[in-house]
Amino acid sequence: MKISQSSFKSQFNSRLINLIFISSSLGLILYLLLSSSFSPLPTSRILLLGGDEFSSPTSLDHIVFGIASNAKSWPKRKEYVKMWWKPDQMRGCVFLDVPLNNQTVPSDASLLPPVCISDDTSRFRYTWRGGLRSAIRVARVVSETVALNHSNVRWFVFGDDDTVFFAENLVKTLSKYDHDLPYFIGSSSESFVQNRYFSFSMAFGGAGFAISYPLARTLAKVLDSCLERYHHLYGSDGRISSCLAELGVGITRESGFHQMDMSGDPFGVLAVHPMAPLVTLHHADYLDPIFPDMTNRDAMRHLYKAAELDPHRILQQTVCYDRWFSWTISISWGYAVEVFGTHVLLPDVLRVPATFRPWRKGNLLNTLFSFDMREHNKDPCGRPVVFHMNTTFLDGDQTVSIYKIKKRENCTSNLGSPRGIEMIRVHAQKLNLNKKQMLTPRRQCCDVLPSSFHERLEIGIRECHEDELIQMPR
Ligand SMILES: *[C@@H]1O[C@H](CO)[C@@H](O)[C@H](O)[C@H]1NC(C)=O
Ligand SMILES: *[C@@H]1O[C@H](CO)[C@@H](O)[C@H](O)[C@H]1NC(C)=O
Ligand SMILES: *[C@@H]1O[C@H](CO)[C@@H](O)[C@H](O)[C@H]1NC(C)=O
Ligand SMILES: *[C@@H]1O[C@H](CO)[C@@H](O)[C@H](O)[C@H]1NC(C)=O
Repeated sequence: MKISQSSFKSQFNSRLINLIFISSSLGLILYLLLSSSFSPLPTSRILLLGGDEFSSPTSLDHIVFGIASNAKSWPKRKEYVKMWWKPDQMRGCVFLDVPLNNQTVPSDASLLPPVCISDDTSRFRYTWRGGLRSAIRVARVVSETVALNHSNVRWFVFGDDDTVFFAENLVKTLSKYDHDLPYFIGSSSESFVQNRYFSFSMAFGGAGFAISYPLARTLAKVLDSCLERYHHLYGSDGRISSCLAELGVGITRESGFHQMDMSGDPFGVLAVHPMAPLVTLHHADYLDPIFPDMTNRDAMRHLYKAAELDPHRILQQTVCYDRWFSWTISISWGYAVEVFGTHVLLPDVLRVPATFRPWRKGNLLNTLFSFDMREHNKDPCGRPVVFHMNTTFLDGDQTVSIYKIKKRENCTSNLGSPRGIEMIRVHAQKLNLNKKQMLTPRRQCCDVLPSSFHERLEIGIRECHEDELIQMPR
């Protein structure tokens, strides 16, 4: 598989450049028009020649957000939206059922999306027993966001009031796709049972999802008729997915969107993130704070600060081995470092430690998740030592992130145990993923740098060499 898409593209480019020199511009346009039927690239984009991209890069300006909330939850949940909303760069609305009353008119309104009041949906039937008919109103956030008539839109992006977006990574992820084509991008639940119960082919709403402009326009036109047909479904996301299915469009999965259908300590899923930029987190109020000894919100803000320093690298996992003490070091950049007291094979380090509990109690099926897992030892002394991110900063053109033990367990530890480490300092280059790296992600490598092991462990992250193995020493 050496003939990659990119080499095809560069061949195509050089053909194009030759053509520019030998043809009149009319000839070029004719050539492009005629070739468009067998070209994998849409003509409109080829005409906008420029660098690596075939049209102007997608940016926040091209996105319109629709956030589903209600007057009761908004006063609290807006704190999450405030973390990621950029008032002068983002467009869209937060949709409430009724206007906020006098006491809750916010003084911070300028930091938040404008409030839109949802249309009345009482004419639609809702027949899922015990469910919430607000699902209809929330599904209509899609058509009511399209009806805001914003111009120059490439993507509509939807989420709940407790969906935290990592905006730069959202843009990066969407720019992999041609916004002129009908795309529906999101993710399933992590919980097998949730998918089984609702649908494996649905984008779960809390994880956030994106619909390309032409598809959203079409969907908005037909949504109400779908709402009539799908009165028997539970949620808004089931209604959207069903209606898109009727339009013949299925989900394109992106693993940076996170529904977070679990409870307890989400450490495992944040320590072992897929090789894709982090796009969303959800359900923070239903999970333990992602950093110990902080409130849910402060903990999310703490992570968000690191994400602002190096968005593409946040939660990206690198693994290296220390030969002297036989440690295995797994870094989830900007979040935490796990140090195993022994050497562990790479595929086992890349499994998610089961630190969390199922979203719902019940039978064994609830404990099944849609990723590889490893045991989380009941005895804290039998687990890898966890260092949580303390701070991140720039040092010249490098980032430095510092990790410390936040929860010191009362374990007997011998000389050479990672429990003796006071802090871990990780040096890295700021990541700037280009389109090829987005299409073929590759894990980076790390080295244990000369360190005074019992005070400070220094690690450097870098690109791996072409044929380098992230290999456990024998
Ligand atoms: C607040 O309540 C008063 C009296 O009910 C009303 O006259 C006023 O318009 C309200 N203001 C807002 C901003 O809702
Ligand atoms: C958007 O455009 C439609 C059709 O032109 C119009 O009916 C509607 O009132 C417009 N909405 C807004 C918010 O301007
Ligand atoms: C970082 O470490 C310093 C010094 O130990 C401590 O005072 C501070 O509270 C830590 N901050 C966080 C966010 O953990
Ligand atoms: C730690 O464990 C030892 C031995 O079990 C015990 O004597 C000591 O009180 C414990 N210390 C704390 C802070 O729990």
